[in-house]
Amino acid sequence: MKKKLLHTEEFIPFNIVVFGGDGDLALRKIYPALFHRHQDGQFLTNYNIVAITRKSLSESKLSENIFKFLSESAEEETFKEDIVAFSKKIKLIQVAEANANSYSELANYLNQFPTYQNIYYFSTPSSAFGQIAQTLKSVGLIKKNSKVVLEKPLGYSLISSNEINEEITKAFSEKQIYRIDHYLGKETVQNLMVLRFANNLFERAWDSEHIDNIQITVSESLGVEKRASYYDNSGALLDMVQNHLLQLLCLVAMEPPHLLEADEVRNEKLKVLRALRPISKKNVATNTVKGQYTRGTLKEEQVNSYLEDIEEYQSKTETFVAIKAFVDNWRWKNVPFYLRTGKRMVKRYSEIVINFKEVRHNIFPSKEKLNNNKLIIRLQPEERIELVQMTKIPGPGGYRYKPIALKLDYIDTFKERLPEAYERLIIDVIRGNQTLFMRQDELEAAWTWIESITSSWKATGQNNILYEAGTWGPGNDILEETDSWITKSWKDQ
Ligand code: BG6
Repeated sequence: MKKKLLHTEEFIPFNIVVFGGDGDLALRKIYPALFHRHQDGQFLTNYNIVAITRKSLSESKLSENIFKFLSESAEEETFKEDIVAFSKKIKLIQVAEANANSYSELANYLNQFPTYQNIYYFSTPSSAFGQIAQTLKSVGLIKKNSKVVLEKPLGYSLISSNEINEEITKAFSEKQIYRIDHYLGKETVQNLMVLRFANNLFERAWDSEHIDNIQITVSESLGVEKRASYYDNSGALLDMVQNHLLQLLCLVAMEPPHLLEADEVRNEKLKVLRALRPISKKNVATNTVKGQYTRGTLKEEQVNSYLEDIEEYQSKTETFVAIKAFVDNWRWKNVPFYLRTGKRMVKRYSEIVINFKEVRHNIFPSKEKLNNNKLIIRLQPEERIELVQMTKIPGPGGYRYKPIALKLDYIDTFKERLPEAYERLIIDVIRGNQTLFMRQDELEAAWTWIESITSSWKATGQNNILYEAGTWGPGNDILEETDSWITKSWKDQ
């Protein structure tokens, strides 16, 4: 049974060319995203997918791999034949090196479709981006309507990120560049815009007068999987905070844009990033915590320590980070934003909690504590919104009350498969909508703030606090001088 058509749209026919076409990201995210959009009937226009690989690989092996990942991501009713047909659609081209000779097969293929827009998806290490972009340019494959999608990490520092950008902009203009942060494609993250700007209720109370603190948490039970060399050069701060958590912070903290247009939204996000109070040598120890996991038990199984996982016993890379951040502007004066993320935590969940201030005066005779209101935006694994409010417990005998949550569960409410973040983002690239992609100046502002932390860590020699895998990370008991909110048990929020 074909799924009902959710959206139809006339796109300019396109070729999507995936560099790193046999890589993990392509198999897990990019092809499944295209497949689901295809199944939903969104592609009324013609399109081709090209997988570029460096190693020699047979088309049948690639199809087999694609089939495996698509079967995992597809719903039961999806016909096996649909998956087979889709994976056969992917053209494999081996490109051993980034030079004109090696690009001739790709050029011959793409030149058969002179009216199509070419979308180049760079899913290789970012050190290769510049060379690929220059070669595409030199063989005449970049046209006015061509686009390039860049996967993170874009460098490891402000300098290296700027260098990559410089290389890319020799071939593509800013209007053609789509820097992906897949968190921005998550349904619940996009709903943040609707929640804030389509409801009068929340925006009225969205400031330092009404909000006590904001918590942004991305907890993962996974370890570093097969990405040891990448991860050991990044750590939790660069892998998660520099991009995903800061982007979430921007959506929570930004001013309403004048229009829902790419540059209007990105201008507002940029102002937030620029207003982040730099962390200094003086306050880095009280405002940040870094940790690394040791051996532990997760879901009743013994798991290795980080050092064992990466087989590098001297590593000082952090797998956990918690930061107390401030946005120094009128709206957010002195409201702490607690950013926390870690690997090998008890469970996987991401959420944003807006902790409102307590009521000004308790009129109830019992004087029992009145909990503050909380707006909880659960991004994953379940997508839901909860508004926690004090409620009277029924019955005579005076006023007794307790906090109860009003809940909106996405799946129960909409009864539809929620599209994966990559589905939305790839469609936006095809459409030419840059709203959910980072502009270079945003990236620079994010790096500048992140480097205030890395340089302060370096200057003070701040160490990792070890935490057992399968726990909530470094706790209050260990960190007396740190703001207790930073390490407050996540599950008790
Ligand atoms: C990636 C990080 O960007 O995001 C990974 O590199 C992390 O380390 C992943 O596991 C988390 O994404 P999600 O969508 O599973 O929360």
